[in-house]
Amino acid sequence: MVKKINHVAIAVPDIGAAARFYEQYLGLKLAGTERVPSNKVKVGFLPVGESRIELVQPDAPDSPVAAFIKKRGPGIQHLCLEVDDIDAELARLKAAGVRLINEAPVPGAHGYRVAFVHPSATGGVLLELSQ
Ligand code: CO
Repeated sequence: MVKKINHVAIAVPDIGAAARFYEQYLGLKLAGTERVPSNKVKVGFLPVGESRIELVQPDAPDSPVAAFIKKRGPGIQHLCLEVDDIDAELARLKAAGVRLINEAPVPGAHGYRVAFVHPSATGGVLLELSQ
């Protein structure tokens, strides 16, 4: 079951520079940054109500986010839905023939377990499931 939008992620070349707009003009606060080796990125979260904006910066030249920025420029990169049972959701999607990027959860930020669903299955948006 989907519980809420956990975050919307924006691919940026530099978290600190991108965060300045949200901090200076919208009063949001960058709640620290974290490396996520499973996805070769560094992330910073700006809490917004029960959800968050995730600023995601490449942490290696071969990071998928580096490829995204090179191809499309900075911008919204994925949507993350929080689920109560990621293993059950993945099993259900896999059985239904939905194209998954991760068939098993990988470690995400803040100790979450996450998996990505391919944009071709979701109407063009890279979808992250997290628990
Ligand atoms: Co994310």
